[in-house]
Amino acid sequence: ALISFVLADGSQHDIEAAEGTSVMEAAVAHNLPGIDADCGGACACATCHVYVASDWVERLPPRAEQEEKMLEFAIGTRKNSRLSCQLCVSAEFNGLQVEVPESQY
Ligand code: FES
Repeated sequence: ALISFVLADGSQHDIEAAEGTSVMEAAVAHNLPGIDADCGGACACATCHVYVASDWVERLPPRAEQEEKMLEFAIGTRKNSRLSCQLCVSAEFNGLQVEVPESQY
């Protein structure tokens, strides 16, 4: 699935993410700045926080309880906040756009 990452500097990076991997892994594999993913995808750090494009919020699987809890530690959480390590890529993710915050701290 092709996923668009929009960085804080406004640049857009379209990255092909394999199904079964996470949105976070796609970003890290391409050294995208802004996604730290300190815990390596264990839903335990909240430094993989992204904002999902508004028209995608309802199309993604809802936040699990652990993701809700960890998002409380993210900076500047909004309604469309997600932890990108908890977004497991499937074919339906094609065209997903996420915004990467300037900093995770
Ligand atoms: Fe740590 Fe996502 S990588 S919560």
